[in-house]
Amino acid sequence: MIIDWKKIAWEIYEKLKEQISKMDRKPSLGVILVWNNPSSEKYVEQKKKWAEFVGMNFALYRFETNISEKELLEEVEKLNNDTNTSGFIVQLPLPDSIDDKKIINAINPTKDVDWFHPINQGKILIWDNSWLAPCTPSGIMEIFSHYDINLSGKIVTVIWKSNIVWKPITAMLINAWATVISCNSKTPDISKFTSISDIIISATGQAWIIKQEMVKDWVILIDVWFNYIDWKIYWDMDFENLKDKTSMITPVPGWVGAMTVAVLLKNTLKAAK
Ligand code: GUN
Repeated sequence: MIIDWKKIAWEIYEKLKEQISKMDRKPSLGVILVWNNPSSEKYVEQKKKWAEFVGMNFALYRFETNISEKELLEEVEKLNNDTNTSGFIVQLPLPDSIDDKKIINAINPTKDVDWFHPINQGKILIWDNSWLAPCTPSGIMEIFSHYDINLSGKIVTVIWKSNIVWKPITAMLINAWATVISCNSKTPDISKFTSISDIIISATGQAWIIKQEMVKDWVILIDVWFNYIDWKIYWDMDFENLKDKTSMITPVPGWVGAMTVAVLLKNTLKAAK
């Protein structure tokens, strides 16, 4: 079966739209965009499109790449103190001249709708899920709950190493009683782990790193990232050769981005409340 995450995201958008239509004061999402590379532009476009669809206010704060770290910290502080902004994000990556850790650290955790601040990331480890949630990892968890997949006792391999997806989803899976295997670029032979896994989540951006002979029958495959080689898009999963072997696989083309945005908007509504 091919996972229909556009449909799952659509259901979240519809629910948000209904809730927001009943609010006197609409939630407001702010986005700071410094480095206008094509991918960041595309992501921000999607965030604007869906924020407006659900009835939120959306404000884009665009800066030139020569903005200094100090000036950017001042802009973050302005949004921390702006009572009209329910939550905001700083779109990554930032130019090399700016330390993204310092910028993320400066965001007020209660307005950190991306859930990138160390205080928020730390909460996942102790399973405080009473507040906001990390966007892409929660989007993936929504897929499991949508299809009634009980993670308890499942062997799940997560591939790559990042603060945005890999670390938070590893913690969330552990909290859901999965047996989690974390692979990265130094893992000698990932097929040793993928071949025993019930679920594989991969976010490397390396073309077809997961092939048919590396997985068992009826596996669930979640492909989170892609890359371009000679202008052709490649995903982590060799979809065409894998799809008939799996019980569920994410579609190609089509990606987890829709779920990321849906959770971001859910967080913004919570922050507004
Ligand atoms: N760059 C790539 N993905 C993301 C994301 O989810 N949030 C932000 N702020 N930047 C990103």
